[in-house]
Amino acid sequence: MDSKEIREKFLEFFEEKGHKVVPSSSLIPADTSVLFTTAGMQQFSLYLAGEKDVLKDFGTRHLASCQKCVRTGDIENIGDDTHHVFFEMLGNWSIGEDDKGYFKEGSIKYALEFLLDRLKLDKSRLWVTIFKGEKDIPRDKKAFDLCKQMGFSEERILEFGMEDNFWGPVAKTGPCGPCLEIFYDRGEEFGCGSPDCGPNCPRCKRFAELWTLVFMEYLKNEKGDYILLSQRNVDTGMGLERLTAILQNKPSAYETDLFLPIISEIQKLSSKSYSENKRVFRIIADHIRAAVFIASEGIVPSNVERGYILRRLLRRMIRFGKVLELRDGFLISLAKIVINNYKDIYPEVQSHQADILTIFQNEEEKFKKTLERGIKETSSLAALGDIDGRDAFRIYETYGFPLEMIEEIAKEKGRKIINRENFEKEFKRHQEISRAGAEKKFGGIGKGATYQATKLHTATHLLHQALRQVLGKHVRQMGSDITPQRLRFDFAHPRKLTEDEIRKVEEIVNQKIREDLEVHKEKMPLEKALKSGALAFFKEKYPPEVTVYTIGNFSKEICAGPHVKRTSELGHFKIIKEESCGAGIRRIRAILE
Ligand code: ALA
Repeated sequence: MDSKEIREKFLEFFEEKGHKVVPSSSLIPADTSVLFTTAGMQQFSLYLAGEKDVLKDFGTRHLASCQKCVRTGDIENIGDDTHHVFFEMLGNWSIGEDDKGYFKEGSIKYALEFLLDRLKLDKSRLWVTIFKGEKDIPRDKKAFDLCKQMGFSEERILEFGMEDNFWGPVAKTGPCGPCLEIFYDRGEEFGCGSPDCGPNCPRCKRFAELWTLVFMEYLKNEKGDYILLSQRNVDTGMGLERLTAILQNKPSAYETDLFLPIISEIQKLSSKSYSENKRVFRIIADHIRAAVFIASEGIVPSNVERGYILRRLLRRMIRFGKVLELRDGFLISLAKIVINNYKDIYPEVQSHQADILTIFQNEEEKFKKTLERGIKETSSLAALGDIDGRDAFRIYETYGFPLEMIEEIAKEKGRKIINRENFEKEFKRHQEISRAGAEKKFGGIGKGATYQATKLHTATHLLHQALRQVLGKHVRQMGSDITPQRLRFDFAHPRKLTEDEIRKVEEIVNQKIREDLEVHKEKMPLEKALKSGALAFFKEKYPPEVTVYTIGNFSKEICAGPHVKRTSELGHFKIIKEESCGAGIRRIRAILE
């Protein structure tokens, strides 16, 4: 059974059981206290907590989905059989149940029916774990009794504490509860042979944690207390990757249709073999999926938060790409495979293809230049001993190595990073220096500079529209940077502009300046703005209400401003440079004279 069929079967099954199938939510959760969506329940958090009415918004208490997830906790451990940065989680929910609905009994029944009757898994391989009771929360006796009733012998029902059998909350506070885990025995050949080997065995991965059924009855508050919720919920999650590996009878998802096309592409590009370089192949295959999905949300590599995770993934792949002697541009080839694999299920990977490929190519070109020197220096430092945080910061600064990468290289040489606080200290000191520098630069030029930048900002809107008129509607803003001296505008366009095109664009902008058009500002709901045809910057996540700037009948864009009042304030517009800035992206620098 291929992964597509498994996804479909799961959703079909719960639909038959009266569930409403809800699409995956974004990888960027609405609740910004966490970086990424790590579980299927996140989009239902407020309903699970009883703060929103599920019946009103969904028309039912029973939901199911296949959710895109990213977990970044153990990026450095990727390469084993069971962990992935990006994965899909199959889940079903029963929210705020009354007597007609299902809670513990119903959810365990559904889970077993799906696994045994639909997927035909062998029951003799299943084990369960339940919550043994800890803190003030009692043992889940009900779950124990139900499992027994449903045919599990007592030896197959193990009990664990908070760490293993209590799930949530996702952030510091939120809904949570005791959980029941269904494990699948992969067979003796995966085991440690110890007589007490079983689910959660600390020595081996013989027992795969397959499905988590959370009985969400609690809310963890700011004080850290667990309060009983006024409603009962079921929240379940089953990793598609693990399930696929089990159903295809493979040791890991890397040997299933979810990863094989990526692994074979890497094999095509490398002279090294998978069997001898398993871990490195797997790291690249894992990270390329995660990077494609993160970039498809409009995230670009940076040194903070989500952008930092994306940068870490890309740079780690580039480093390991060297180990496999992959040729330049391998990220693009692999990204295309991922996009092709997922485009039917998650169309956003395809609609963002141009952005994703451009971002990957830029990062590869940028990082490649310093990679070798950086590895050399890190390795020689590690040869001398553990690496001090201060030196690690210098490498980070000079070569753009994420701290975790420096740590990893050190580890390969049997070393570690010591005095990590020195890294933080240097990091902060550096931030302050550059902030002070920026203030000085801007403050020194004074108010006039701000006005100059405002004028260039308005000129950017005119330029954007003029480019669309001359080159076509495919022109879209991909980036913009304004200093008091010049504007810089990046946009999607497949080839170099001709002299004639540049001249035409300049002429149009100058014509609009001469027409002395009024710049009109108006607040409106985002939807209305988009409907009215206002241009939007694709990378931006807009609030529900936005400001739209209209220049005469010529240009309309969603933008926070500021802008001048009339175009005649701008003077004379001139393009000073036009160049490529990545595949399918052009960059224009222009000034106002
Ligand atoms: N929310 C539970 C999980 O993520 C089902 O495992």
